[in-house]
Parts: sequence; structure tokens; C-alpha cells
Amino acid sequence: MIIKREEDVTAAVVSAMADTPDARLRGITEALVRHLHAFAAEVRLTEDEWEMGLDALIRSGKACTDTHNEMILMSDVLGLSTLVCLMNNGAGGPTETAAALLGPFWRMHSPRMENGGSILRSQTPGPALFMRGQVVDTDGNPIPGVDVDIWQASPVGMYENQDPGQADMNLRGKFTTDAEGRFWLRSVKPAGYPVPTDGPAGDLLKAQKRHPYRPAHIHALLFKEGFKTLVTQVFVDDDENLETDVVFGVTEALVGDFRKHDDAPPEPEAGTPWYSLEHRFVMMKGEAKLPVPPIK
Ligand code: BEZ
Ligand code: FE
Repeated sequence: MIIKREEDVTAAVVSAMADTPDARLRGITEALVRHLHAFAAEVRLTEDEWEMGLDALIRSGKACTDTHNEMILMSDVLGLSTLVCLMNNGAGGPTETAAALLGPFWRMHSPRMENGGSILRSQTPGPALFMRGQVVDTDGNPIPGVDVDIWQASPVGMYENQDPGQADMNLRGKFTTDAEGRFWLRSVKPAGYPVPTDGPAGDLLKAQKRHPYRPAHIHALLFKEGFKTLVTQVFVDDDENLETDVVFGVTEALVGDFRKHDDAPPEPEAGTPWYSLEHRFVMMKGEAKLPVPPIK
């Protein structure tokens, strides 16, 4: 069709895409065009602003490396990652808010560990944490043989891949649930940290006068054939940024029960105070599928 006025553009584009054989691709691209055009019309996007938007996308792409994923970060600070995560993980059901975004720091090949093992692989000062988890299905039955991949930042708020002072794979490990669906491990209490702010996502946060902090948390990725892979996080309940997580990952179900203890720790060298955490993870039936690792 030949365009006569501004209002014709959307219909022209949608009609040009109408023969897309893949119905899902056709639906997604049509909706994308309709919403994108409606957005531009609503804000009366100027040419300078359109150029700025494209430049932010170009810079985000160029900022991606093997160890940094600026595109995911941009999606995170816009709340898109959390929205997609919650929509796809039991919306309306018993696991509605059991999942949380993957984030940019999951590494696929963390070391396999025996239950009770420590995920400290180099000197990591900070209060000891003894974590015990149980994995159950939506009827409350324990699930044995689940691979539980754990990763977290150190008590100074750095992942090992960001911090030359930590050994490779420090604070990462993969455990397997026993016959009662339980796994347990030794770690240190994580600290909150700022997301990277040296790229376009950081520029946006600064322009919006938002702080860049995530409340302290432990990541977990739970995998077993027959169950939908659960990607989640458990948040430290005394963190001051629980209500203002820069990437909107906190749901009520994910605030952990971190308990401080001043008596003798389970392992004498752990020192006092030490912390314990008990958490229940609920998996629903579905497809077991690992995400694409954001970094190597
Ligand atoms: C994380 O929790 O590892 C994370 C999530 C989103 C952005 C940055 C970090
Ligand atoms: Fe994290």
C-alpha cells in the first residue's frame, strides 16, 4: 500500500508481514510493530531521541563480552527480565513467584560437590553461612536427584569472575538432592552489590536517579528431567534494599530465613557469629532445559 499519512504506517508494515509462515513469529512481530509504533506516537518521539535510542542499543551490543552481558542488564533494569520470568514460571499457580531472573553471572560448568561441602575455594572473609535446602514438587513430595547449582557474590559484593582476588569458581558449586530432596552446604553470608554501571544501563539509572544496588542473595538453578528448570534466588532478609532491587527480582516467596547465631558453629573454624538458612524450593512438572550461559 502507498502511505498517505502518518496513521497509515503501522497498517502498511503489518500487512507487509502478513505472509510470515511461522504463526508465532508473525504474531510476535505484528504485536511488536503495533506497540512500538504506538509508543513512538504516544511520546511523539523526535529524530534526536530515536537516534539516541538506537545508539544505546548499539553501545549495549558492543559492550557485551565473554564476561559481561550489557543486553541482559538493560532488560533487567527495565523490569523485562523479571516480567518474562514470572509469566513463564507457574503464573497463577503454586510456583507463581518461586522463580527469579538468571542475571548475568551464571556459569555453566561449576564444580560438582558432595552435600555438606564448602563452596569457598579461596580465602573469603565474612560470616559463615550454613545453607540447607529441600526441593519438593507442587504436591509437597520431595524430589531426589535434582542438580542444584548455587552461585553467589562474596561478602564484599563481588562474583569471582569480577574479582581477581578470588579463585576460579569461588562461591559456585553444584549439589544433588538426597532421597528426601535435601541438599546442604557451607558458604559465607553474601553482600548486596551494585550492578555494573559503566555502560548504557548505568547511564539510564543515573539519568533516572536510581541506585544501582541488588539486595544480597544466593542464586540457585535447579535441574531434573521431567521438571521445569527452576532459576531462582534467595534474598537476605535484613538487606536495606529488599524493596528497591534495581532489577525487581525480589518476591515475597524468595525472602530467606537467614538466622544469626552466637553459639558454637557446626564447624569450629567457622567462628561467630554464623548464619543458617533453610529454604524450600518448589518445582513444577515441565521441560528440563538449561539457559544459554550469559558468560563463559
Ligand atoms: C545478579 O543477580 O547476579 C544480577 C542480576 C541482574 C543484573 C546484575 C546482576
Ligand atoms: Fe546476583
